[in-house]
Parts: sequence; structure tokens; C-alpha cells
Amino acid sequence: MAKDTSVGSKILIVDDEVNLLESLGDLLSRKGYDVATAQDGTEAMARLDYERFQVMIVDLRMPGMSGLELLEKVRAESPETGVLILTAYGSIKSAVTAVKMGAYDYICKPFMPDEILGAIGNIVEQQRLFHEYEYEFENLIGKHRSMREVYRLINQVSKTNCTVLVLGESGTGKELVAYAIHHNSDRRNKPFIKVSCAALPEGVLESEMFGHERGAFTNAYYRRKGRFELADGGTLLLDEIGDMPLSTQVKLLRVLQEREFERVGGNETIEVDVRIIATTNKDLDGAVNEEKFREDLYYRLSVVPIRLPSLRERKGDVPLLVGHFLKKFSEKNNKRVSNLSKDVMDLLMAYDWPGNVRELENVMERAVVLTKGDTITPYNLPGHLRDSSGNISLWVQSKSLQGAEKQLLSWVLAKTNWNVKKAASVLKISRGTLYSKMKKLNLQKPEK
Ligand SMILES: Nc1ncnc2c1ncn2[C@@H]1O[C@H](COP(=O)(O)OP(=O)(O)O)[C@@H](O)[C@H]1O
Ligand SMILES: [Mg+2]
Repeated sequence: MAKDTSVGSKILIVDDEVNLLESLGDLLSRKGYDVATAQDGTEAMARLDYERFQVMIVDLRMPGMSGLELLEKVRAESPETGVLILTAYGSIKSAVTAVKMGAYDYICKPFMPDEILGAIGNIVEQQRLFHEYEYEFENLIGKHRSMREVYRLINQVSKTNCTVLVLGESGTGKELVAYAIHHNSDRRNKPFIKVSCAALPEGVLESEMFGHERGAFTNAYYRRKGRFELADGGTLLLDEIGDMPLSTQVKLLRVLQEREFERVGGNETIEVDVRIIATTNKDLDGAVNEEKFREDLYYRLSVVPIRLPSLRERKGDVPLLVGHFLKKFSEKNNKRVSNLSKDVMDLLMAYDWPGNVRELENVMERAVVLTKGDTITPYNLPGHLRDSSGNISLWVQSKSLQGAEKQLLSWVLAKTNWNVKKAASVLKISRGTLYSKMKKLNLQKPEK
């Protein structure tokens, strides 16, 4: 049975028989799929250059590029597409080969409508799970379990209007999470407005948030709507709220409690329906203790906290992100950079990423721009990633001897691909000593 998830899924049918393209295309469109057709492998590959298909239905026997050749190309260039093979009775053996090469399933011609709908429904269902919960969610990438937990929370809070606090170091994707929540909620067609609390001086921040009346202060020549009013019906992102001055916090608290406010210099009370998402890279608990952040506001905001992991807590995701950024920046710069030399990946895995995904993104953009061929080499990386002295400065940052030891051990382990024997010999200690230090310092091979 085709499931409801079919609606909108894109399917490409590739067959040299025009009759089949028409009848199958018709059947699938009536079931709500978004269908495209191609008469041979070359035409199919050309479409893949600029479109993504969830499913491709491929005839094994076609003039020119065979179904198996096409399958091989699709697996390499669009691995997320599920391929269903069509075969005549005589060639089941090739169909079995196709499944071994990564096709999802095969169907013999002639087939019944239910048979093919069932097979497609299975592919679509599997892909939905694979996509939403394994590797990506909206624009967020990551398959580490900490990220899957983030996707789950986004899904949950999107269905409500509750205030959300997104916590995480700088560059971990807090704004992407805020946008994903908005985009998944029923407010998606209403505005998504951001206020950067860190960037603005106190007075300006208030008039940005609440707007001002004409003549409220020098240079206030016009009445101006604030971000709260602009976001009415939608979502307001209070970015880096840990930097908000105390006096502004008081005013914000009132809006959160009463959903109303006045413009700066005005008397008219304005009511708004706004969903609030706040982000912070600060330790708000600590700020509350130091009385730099109001406790009552903190509790209001952190109804549902979502904590984003740092990149070093999920290093196994580095290759996935690298692939994503290679593709993104190749397209942006009109280049075809598709490879890394092996030592580049080793360096990227050994590095600590204090600036998290944002830093990785910048490093990859720079590398794509700098490389002359289609492969990134260590010379395309910034110096501090290439030579170990960069890592030494990190050891100094960690301040304690134990911190430095942990940095050194994790660096050597990453360099030796977590081969304890090799790492121990590099460090000139026994394997047993290394094991006990790893245990004491809680060092574990990052999950893939
Ligand atoms: N999980 C992720 N997948 C893909 N890109 C990401 C991810 N996290 C962050 N980025 C990218 O890194 C940069 C910084 O993200 P941002 O949301 O601004 O971080 P923060 O607000 O936490 O400092 C952005 O360009 C964003 O697209
Ligand atoms: Mg940010």
C-alpha cells in the first residue's frame, strides 16, 4: 500500500518504452507523486544535476547506457535516491546483481499497479526515516545521537507555541535550530524575525524590539514598528539573549507574561501573538548567580531547553559535514571539488574545532576556493590545522596539566586512527598505561 507520505515525493521513471512511461507516470501522479520521466540514462543523469528525486524507477534493458550503468552513476552522485529496477522475466539474474549494487528492489514486467505502488511506498517510508532522523533535518546535518535528540525535540516543540531556549557554543547551529522550529510549526507562513541582543547598545535594542514613537528621542523623526510587532503571528528569535542588559530584561519579562507592551515614548498598549525562541552561548545559570541575568526571566525562557552539542562531542559527523560543505561551495564557486586527500581528513578529525560547525564551514570554503584541481590537499588548509604547534596552543588554553594530557592523547589517538598500540609507541608509554589514562580521562573513539 502506498502511504500518505507519498504526497509530493519526487519520482523519476527511466525507460525507453514510451507507453510504459505514460501509463506508469499516470498511475503515480494520480497517487499524489510528483513524476518526471526520461527515455535514457543520459537524460536521467542530466536531470539529477539540478533536481533531487526520492525514487528512481529504472528499466534494466535500454539502448545506450544500460540500467546497471545508470544505477552505478546514481549511487555515486545521488546516494540518497532509492532505485527500483524494472526487469523482464528473462533477466532476473541482472536484477539480483542490481540489488547487490545498491538498488532497493526489483519488479518483473508486466506488473500489477499494487505491486509497484507497494514497492515505492516502502522506499519512500524508509527514506523518510533515514532523512528525518538519521542524517539531516531541515538544514541541519548530523547523525550523532545527540543531533537525533535535537531533531526529535524540534519536532515536538514545533507542534506547540511554547518558549524555547537553544543553548550551545558559538557556531553549533543555534539559529538553524530556531529556524527549523519556525519552519515546522503552523507559523511557517508568517514572519520569522531576529533580534541580535549582543550587537546593539541598550537604548537601541529597546527601540529595535518595541519600536518607538515620533520624537521619542533625538533622531526619532518617524514612528517605527519594533520587531515584536513585525513578528506578529510568527516567531521572534532573541539571539544571544545572555548579552541583554538587565533593564531590557525587565521589559521583556513583561511582554512574555502579558503579551503586550508600549513603543518607546508611547502610551498605546500593543498586543501581539508571537512565539519566542531565545539562544545563548553563555552559561545562564552562572549569569543568574552573578545577578547579571534575571532569574524569573530565565525560568520563563527555559520552559524547553534544547542543548546543541559542540562539534568535538560529535566528531564522527565531521566527514558528513565535510561532504555537505564541499558540495555547497563547489556549486557556489562553480568548481568541481569532490575529493580530499587522506591526510586532509586526518587533520580535520584531529582538530578540536573551538569555533564548531561555523569554523569547519569557513575552512572548507577557503579550501575549495584555494585548490587548483578537484582535490583538497593539506596546503589548502589554514596553517594552524596543518602543523601541530596549533594544537600546542590549544593545550595551553586548557590550562591544567590533566587537560593538556587529554588534548595530547586525543590528538595522538586520532592521528593513529585510535590504534592504541601505535599511539602508545608514539607516546613512548606502555599500552596498559595508555588504556588506564584513556579510562581516567574518559577518552573514547568518536562514534561513526
Ligand atoms: N548541523 C549543522 N549542519 C549544517 N550546517 C550547520 C550546522 N550547524 C551549524 N551550521 C552552519 O554553521 C554556521 C553557524 O551556524 P549558526 O546557527 O549561526 O550558529 P550559532 O547561532 O550557534 O552561532 C551557519 O552557516 C550554519 O549554516
Ligand atoms: Mg548565532
